[in-house]
Amino acid sequence: MAAGFGKGRGSDRLVVLGGKARTHGPGRVWLVGAGPGDPELLTIKALKALQAAEVVVHDGLVSDEILDLAPSSARRISVAKRKSRHSYSQDEINRMLVAFALEGLNVVRLKGGDPFIFGRGGEELEACREAGVECLIVPGVTAALAASANAGAPLTHRGAAQAVTFVTGHAAKGGEPDLDWESLARPNQTVVIYMGLSMAAPIAARLLAAGRDGATPALIVENASRADERRIVTTLSGLPEAAAALSGPALLIVGEAMALARAGDGRPHLETLIREARA
Ligand SMILES: C[S@@+](CC[C@H](N)C(=O)[O-])C[C@H]1O[C@@H](n2cnc3c(N)ncnc32)[C@H](O)[C@@H]1O
Repeated sequence: MAAGFGKGRGSDRLVVLGGKARTHGPGRVWLVGAGPGDPELLTIKALKALQAAEVVVHDGLVSDEILDLAPSSARRISVAKRKSRHSYSQDEINRMLVAFALEGLNVVRLKGGDPFIFGRGGEELEACREAGVECLIVPGVTAALAASANAGAPLTHRGAAQAVTFVTGHAAKGGEPDLDWESLARPNQTVVIYMGLSMAAPIAARLLAAGRDGATPALIVENASRADERRIVTTLSGLPEAAAALSGPALLIVGEAMALARAGDGRPHLETLIREARA
């Protein structure tokens, strides 16, 4: 099956380029979380949705290993943000999903991590609802969970972290995020910052100015759960310098429970763990 948009990307018209659009029953959109990168962290439900896909519309953070789980006949469309070439706007992605589903196709919108954690899944869900297209959600392992698991540092911990907050490191229109710094600066809680690598210095400055102790343990995890994962253990005061050494995608995690974090490279591969357990 191959299908695409006619009259350029802005068009609502879907043109079937090869094969036949499914004529049986209405199409639907599955918003599927692909997890943080390690294919072993994909849920069984996500795998089943992928295996039934006729069209897969995916982000740049989704690995080829995971994309390969879709049928070879499924059309794959990357809507990754590109620096050099035009990338699809969110509105174009919404219209693309709706148009494919209205053609009767089974559409999988595959996103890194979880679709509803800084994944713009809500906007795509709303677009489907407005168009009367059925939209189902398959949750995924969000990057924070993989980062904390591999570092051996829990996001909540009795006595050290009674709450965990996921925040974005970027305002919707770019620049510094407008967050409740007073509340995030209170002790005994974990703050996980998505998309915050390039904003590490102003974020650390805000937390310090709001009263969070500079010695609060902090962790940066780049490429969590991927073969090239890197973890740097530092403190809130050391966050800007540590962040400057990485290029992302990465999470900044600040909180007393990060005292348990182990620095290092690489993720524990299942095969390695089994070998070690048998030895
Ligand atoms: C647009 S958000 C998508 C988050 C995703 N929906 C999730 O639940 O993990 C992209 C940001 O998530 C974080 N991220 C995603 N995958 C990551 C990974 N494997 N390791 C570290 N951070 C990751 C980074 O902060 C990145 O800038």
